[in-house]
Amino acid sequence: MLATSTIVEEILDLKKERRAVLLAHHYQDTEIQEIADVVGDSLELSRKAHDFDGDVIAFCGVWFMAETAKVLNPNRIVVVPDKDASCSLVESCPVEQVRAYKKLHPDHVVVSYINTSVDVKAESDILCTSSNAVAIVNSIPADQPVLFLPDINLGNYVKKQTGRENMKIWQGACIVHATFPARRLTKARMEHPEALVVAHPECPPDVLAMADYIGSTSALIKYCVNSGAGEFIVMTESGVSHSLLKFAPEKKFYFVKNENCNCSECPYMRLNTLEKLRDCLRDLRPRVEIAPDIMRRALVPIERMLAVK
Ligand code: 13P
Ligand code: SF4
Repeated sequence: MLATSTIVEEILDLKKERRAVLLAHHYQDTEIQEIADVVGDSLELSRKAHDFDGDVIAFCGVWFMAETAKVLNPNRIVVVPDKDASCSLVESCPVEQVRAYKKLHPDHVVVSYINTSVDVKAESDILCTSSNAVAIVNSIPADQPVLFLPDINLGNYVKKQTGRENMKIWQGACIVHATFPARRLTKARMEHPEALVVAHPECPPDVLAMADYIGSTSALIKYCVNSGAGEFIVMTESGVSHSLLKFAPEKKFYFVKNENCNCSECPYMRLNTLEKLRDCLRDLRPRVEIAPDIMRRALVPIERMLAVK
């Protein structure tokens, strides 16, 4: 096996040769985040993918995020280190079921969380991420019924924040955030009574009810870094510890483990490794390829989202 430093050198050489940009989500392994050009949450990475210079986007995140980058960059090559880097939310929302719902409820405005397949995006009226979901739903006229998909916890959070009654919510869930048990958070609060609780809105309502702050991964990081407090219980994927420790090394962060894996890691995100990143830059595979008609239709709700401030 080659040493990490050798693989990193190979990646940096290939990056130059391919005129590639490396985008990494906060849930990637530390060694991937360290060499990325941009580390961010899904909204930030979509925006970065929108305006960069180069021929190849190496997207270190999950497949739906890379699909979004491809829709925004139809003439660039978009690769992902592992083709199986999916997402339980994407899997909970098959496009056939969305089409069937639309047929029964043609008056509903379909608001899709960015964690959906490109086929579902093509069926959607507007997209959102965890950082702009409330603003996106508020941008829809109050008398229009809404279908929010696919995350049940984010949907319920948005419904509460907007006070919107005419909003149906899909029953999908994130296998990482939805399985954080409130009783483990209660125990962590007893162990660290000075700590503030920050939580991603994909967490269950009983976890969100205990949070001092709720936001997207980047919003959580910014809150902890800028807060006057020195200790935090962080209810999201533990990959955020890379930026937290980089920008606030003097503070303490505690992660609550979920019940699936007794960890706080997304199994899909963690499929990407340095070796696979090197291979995808070398082979330009696995590559995101989308039919032109789907690309064209999926671009409309993405651009509508990007236009909402
Ligand atoms: P962010 O929008 O916070 O990046 O979340 C994406 C995600 O997959 C959370 O689990
Ligand atoms: Fe999907 Fe959850 Fe993983 Fe995010 S953490 S990519 S929502 S499975």
